[in-house]
Amino acid sequence: MSHEKVETNIGLMVVLIVLVISVGGLIEIVPLFFMKQTTEPVSGLLPYNSLQLAGRDVYVREGCYGCHSQMIRPFRAETERYGHYSLAGEFTYDRPFQWGSKRTGPDLQRVGGRYSDDWHRLHLTNPRLVVPESNMPGYPWLKDNKVDGELIAKKMRALRILNTPYTDEDIANAADSVKGKTEMDALIAYLQVLGTHVSTRR
Ligand code: HEC
Repeated sequence: MSHEKVETNIGLMVVLIVLVISVGGLIEIVPLFFMKQTTEPVSGLLPYNSLQLAGRDVYVREGCYGCHSQMIRPFRAETERYGHYSLAGEFTYDRPFQWGSKRTGPDLQRVGGRYSDDWHRLHLTNPRLVVPESNMPGYPWLKDNKVDGELIAKKMRALRILNTPYTDEDIANAADSVKGKTEMDALIAYLQVLGTHVSTRR
């Protein structure tokens, strides 16, 4: 088949382009579904407990992802600042994941354990109390809102259908273990576990 034939026949050109892109796409994408590195949780990864799960929902509701990513790229400038780059297997129980793409504030993937709970409490109430130049908004109402334990139990049941390994016991105890906790407590519990499952931290 001469080159001229392909270049002057738009129908043939379309068919050949679709063929090339499909084959190329399949070769790149299909293996990812079978690679352990992209399909299995990193060793030691635990699903969020009931309080952390409630905190994750607060994070999503308040739109923290609008200013914070949770995705450390494998570049020196990133790993020096934030720690080990993100691994696919760390997000197995994140539905949906909170990778984000906007960094008005720093990446939060490995913020777990970096500050004390008290620091977070002050920072979330009014960031200027601990970081004078901060332009992050305060979230003072979180300490007045109680976590709804029954709702968390229902969410854990739904996540179990999607293969998050919660036991009957986890679900039965969910309401009790968040009793009296505020959304502030929950959000801090969530922040404190972020990125702590990978041991190769700097
Ligand atoms: C308008 C953008 C904006 C929003 C929305 C926002 N942040 Fe921030 N955040 C920042 C900026 C800027 C900083 C850096 C200054 C500072 O530490 O306050 C920051 C810092 C942080 C830090 C400290 C990170 C570190 O490594 O020092 C944490 C934790 C944090 N934010 C959590 C949150 C949470 C949780 C929410 C949602 C409830 C949130 N942020 C919403 C802009 C934002």
